[in-house]
Amino acid sequence: MHVDVQFLPFPPSPDLLTRRTVVVMDILRATSVMVHALSQGAAEIIPLANSEEALQRAKTFPTGTTLLGGERGSRKIEGFDLGNSPTEYVFERVSGKRLILTTTNGTKAFHSVSSGREILAGSFLNVEAIAQRCLELGQDLLLFPSGDEGRFSLEDAVCAGMLVEGILKKGRPVDLTDAARAAHILFKEFENHLVEALRLSNHGKDLIALGLGGDLAFCAQTDVTDIVPVFADGVIRAH
Ligand code: MLT
Repeated sequence: MHVDVQFLPFPPSPDLLTRRTVVVMDILRATSVMVHALSQGAAEIIPLANSEEALQRAKTFPTGTTLLGGERGSRKIEGFDLGNSPTEYVFERVSGKRLILTTTNGTKAFHSVSSGREILAGSFLNVEAIAQRCLELGQDLLLFPSGDEGRFSLEDAVCAGMLVEGILKKGRPVDLTDAARAAHILFKEFENHLVEALRLSNHGKDLIALGLGGDLAFCAQTDVTDIVPVFADGVIRAH
């Protein structure tokens, strides 16, 4: 198995993607929200790039079945039900509901890799389950940190490195690209204090400044669920 990490969130060639399992990661906070919401019983998640599209799509579903969530500038969007803090996505609120999410980077990233053979949502919350699923699928792997408006994101890269570690630990022969090896080295640097990587990151600092620092500790928890979210036909559902 060949394991690669794309450090910058530029859309890879569709031809390459059709031969890869792709793991999208937006640790702060889109994929952490998705994993947590599904673990709390959300029925499905529709990730969309813009808020107008999200509002229109919500109107196509029966009243009471669908919640609108996400952020712009890390704040809840006007007229939406939920923001983008994972702690808002509790069982009482989301169980059985369809979620329509739109965020600055994370929801767009799924559409950038939509021709992937299998597309999974990864986070620290479910990293071991994702490693296991990638090995079961047995395809070459592209880890796709969704970055920060085109820039490198420390927290996404560290999580990619933790996923590399999870795969290496299973003892199967894997071939790491330089980027995958670099992500693994970065993970080793923060292995015993993951939350520190989130605090040092640009987006982590922005969230702290907005009074949303509690989300960093939440998103830095590891292996609290074995949910594996799969994106197919525009919808993310738990595997
Ligand atoms: C994103 O998609 O860019 C993030 O989830 C932003 C955030 O939650 O603040």
